[in-house]
Amino acid sequence: MKPSETTNNNSKVEEVWMGAFPICLYQGFWCPPNLLQPTILFQTQFKAYDNDIILASLPKTGTTWLKSLIFAIVNRNKFLDFTQHPLQTQNAHELVLQLEAKVYNNITNGSTQPDFPKLPSPRLFATHIPYFSLPKSLKTSKTRIVYVCRNPLDTFVSSWHFYHQFKLNMKPELDHSMIEQHFGKFCEGKFLYGPYEDHVLGYSKESIQNPDKVLFMEYEGLIEDPKAHVKKLAEFVGYPFSMEEEKGNIIDEIIKLCSFDSLKEMEVNKSGNFYGYFENKALFRKGGTGDWTNYLTLSMVKKFDEIFQLKFKGSGFSF
Ligand code: A3P
Repeated sequence: MKPSETTNNNSKVEEVWMGAFPICLYQGFWCPPNLLQPTILFQTQFKAYDNDIILASLPKTGTTWLKSLIFAIVNRNKFLDFTQHPLQTQNAHELVLQLEAKVYNNITNGSTQPDFPKLPSPRLFATHIPYFSLPKSLKTSKTRIVYVCRNPLDTFVSSWHFYHQFKLNMKPELDHSMIEQHFGKFCEGKFLYGPYEDHVLGYSKESIQNPDKVLFMEYEGLIEDPKAHVKKLAEFVGYPFSMEEEKGNIIDEIIKLCSFDSLKEMEVNKSGNFYGYFENKALFRKGGTGDWTNYLTLSMVKKFDEIFQLKFKGSGFSF
């Protein structure tokens, strides 16, 4: 498909994302055209269960980390020996499937419903779709949604690295003139599943209006105080730690199991690849906060400040 060609889904293919693949504008957000059909199926066919747990995020904001934490928290009584934990042999993205990119992209039986594998209860899923475009069933059910947000500049820099090695064997092309060009697009809102601000503010607003429905977490907060955040997360998803557990070391063990250093060193993440798209190790680049200072120039940050101050005015967010 060529840029600006209109598809029969009222979307437009307009951009090439980070030189890696095309993205099109659909319902006000940017999505890969090959995921449009699965996205529409997800929107129209998904029947949420009240005890489903959904992780929502923009790409590169800590999705892998949160998937690991949620899986480990919910299944802590099932897998007692962490040396044999499923996270040791399966990447978090295989354990918590993304609805639009995996579940509804894999329908092979000619129907509109995925042949849901015998998923254990509660079902754990993930999505990158903005709140306003989620299926109605997900919004009206008691399904709980955990949202993770990350500093936009770090999110951009993380994306910059990731999408330059998105296809296996693709060499990173970290030329400064290119980064400026892509950063300009990010500031304009052209970002995978963005605009960034619509995504963040959509979930943030819902978490304020409906705190039992959406838990809004910040990557930076998790880095700063993992224990408090993991406790809050466990409570929100309906698996609070008992007094006895709090006195023991299970919370610390979960934090350690899902830490950057631990996940990065697991064999599956050192050598595996994600269905032939990218190497799992690309999901564990550096971790932490503030890496943007190593990549963005003063003038780029000034431009960002001017634009984002306006976008987030009155929202209580500051970056
Ligand atoms: P960097 O590229 O800044 O290192 P996502 O999982 O949404 O794709 O986000 C990827 C980012 O989260 C990458 O950031 C990656 O290194 C970081 N990350 C992955 N696992 C992490 C963990 N357990 N703890 C903290 N950060 C993690």
